[in-house]
Amino acid sequence: MRVVGIETSCDETGVAVYDSRHGLLAHEVFSQAAIHAPYGGVVPELASRDHVRKLLPLLDRVMKQAKTLPATVDGVAYTAGPGLVGALLVGAAIGRSLAYAWNVPAIGIHHIEAHLLAPMLEPEAPRFPFLALLVSGGHTQLIAVEAFGCYRIVGESLDDAAGEAFDKTASLLGLPYPGGPSLAKLAESGNPNRFHFPRPMTDRPGLDLSFSGLKTHALYTLRRHGSDAATKADIARAFEEAVVATLVKKCDRALDETGMPRLIVAGGVGANRRLRAALSQLAERRQVLAYYPRVEFCTDNGAMIAYAGYRRLQAGAETALAFFVRPRWPLSSIGLS
Ligand code: KG4
Ligand code: ZN
Repeated sequence: MRVVGIETSCDETGVAVYDSRHGLLAHEVFSQAAIHAPYGGVVPELASRDHVRKLLPLLDRVMKQAKTLPATVDGVAYTAGPGLVGALLVGAAIGRSLAYAWNVPAIGIHHIEAHLLAPMLEPEAPRFPFLALLVSGGHTQLIAVEAFGCYRIVGESLDDAAGEAFDKTASLLGLPYPGGPSLAKLAESGNPNRFHFPRPMTDRPGLDLSFSGLKTHALYTLRRHGSDAATKADIARAFEEAVVATLVKKCDRALDETGMPRLIVAGGVGANRRLRAALSQLAERRQVLAYYPRVEFCTDNGAMIAYAGYRRLQAGAETALAFFVRPRWPLSSIGLS
């Protein structure tokens, strides 16, 4: 089965072609980061307009790279939520219309499910069941994945998502948008022993998380110790260490509580090198297998949408002609079809 995947939930336009026999045939992402950078965050209206401009030329290019003609496509998958409603509507309208024109089924995909399945694009794909640490710009969740379509959220952030905390703290430090990668880069030159940031909610039982306090802690540290370049790097390092230590501690606990034999990491913050290294250490200590998508499949992309689309179409799911998008969409509600 050959599936075209389209991602437009936020500020990345992603297109891919996945083939169940030959794997990923081609994928490309166009990042709008430069468009939103002057505003310090994503401007929804500008995001929608740019998806309109970029999507069809990108599709044309990816279809050529994948040597795929419309007649050989078996289905079209697009992100139906959660995300920015205008941005989602661009991908959904184009994806649904392409499927109509090509006379193949369409499938609206839950963006978080696609992130969770992204490690399966790798040659050494994890098997079910597994514990997933989903850390993106909009979500931070620990999810017990029993089987395809069976997602139980066992812990989540009660306020900011981990990526959001990276972005907001980066902005305090005067770093360019998107903040996560630039903060991680600055942290490399920081002194790990100068500041110690709290590890929120690790001193009490439970799997929920909270990251908004770390940003405030960064602000107070900045005010107290000045904002010279070295201090900023030291704050970035202490902040990153605190986020990583907190996530690792909660993963450790979640592995205890769920008894899962595997751990997968998904979402944009999953690209963070220090987080990946710390989780690998945890997995080794606990004798569980750890899986990560390659870095380009941690952040938003069309490949994970094409793959999730293939899995859902294969399971018999299909989206009707009167399609929908859902800016808010609880993962636990989606089931198998
Ligand atoms: O999954 P994603 O691409 O979009 C959402 O679905 O939200 O995640 C984007 C988030 C942003 O907050 C970005 O700053 C963060 O992932 N991020 C990182 C790194 N790369 C991306 N955070 C920390 N370290 C990184 N290397
Ligand atoms: Zn995402």
